[in-house]
Amino acid sequence: MSDEKKSCCSNETGEPTATRSAAPMWIVVVTLALLFTGGLFLDSHGGWFDKNVYAPYQSSAQLEAFQPKSGAAAAMARGKSVYEGVCGICHNSDGTGKPGQAPALAGSEWVTAKGINRLAHIPLAGVTGAIQVGGKDWNLNMAAMGAALSDEDMAAVLTYIRTSWGNKAEAVNADDVKKVRTEIGKSPQPYSSTQLKAMPE
Ligand code: HEC
Repeated sequence: MSDEKKSCCSNETGEPTATRSAAPMWIVVVTLALLFTGGLFLDSHGGWFDKNVYAPYQSSAQLEAFQPKSGAAAAMARGKSVYEGVCGICHNSDGTGKPGQAPALAGSEWVTAKGINRLAHIPLAGVTGAIQVGGKDWNLNMAAMGAALSDEDMAAVLTYIRTSWGNKAEAVNADDVKKVRTEIGKSPQPYSSTQLKAMPE
């Protein structure tokens, strides 16, 4: 009978030895490679542990793509909502106007004019009396809406009517609206179409 406790590390009995030896190189390489791929995976899928990023989304960059667009698209969305909340009630949601209530904005020469000076005067100060729109005669009143709408909202809604329903004209920016608002002053009086026509486009 052999005495197993005789020596810890002897291999006299044929038992495996437990001496220290260098880890095989391939294990080191595989471990580093796994750490590296793990890092890459976290980088692209972990959202940097951002608490706002969770399944099914994988990164904050991906979420960013779902955020409301800035610039032109945001202005159009804002313009649409101002239009539908304010102007569309009379001018119709598709800009075609309503008999006896308001003329069309779709295809209107007032809306698609090259410059925005006359156009901006209309909602800022109102328009009254005989006016021709797309060859049709109207003779009603539109009240001023300048007090209710900021320069940004006014610019957005004018951009919206200039680029919707087949209208193709340049966008309007808030500075242009501000200029016209300042020129009109604090107590706006509705213009006649003759007065509007006397202004630069
Ligand atoms: C309460 C009804 C009403 C609302 C709200 C209204 N309008 Fe008008 N709008 C009219 C009427 C009526 C006329 C024609 C006035 C006339 O006969 O002199 C007109 C004329 C116009 C014109 C010139 C004619 C044309 O059809 O191109 C423009 C441009 C216009 N409106 C833009 C707007 C915009 C922009 C808004 C929203 C900010 C707006 N209107 C809100 C009733 C309205």
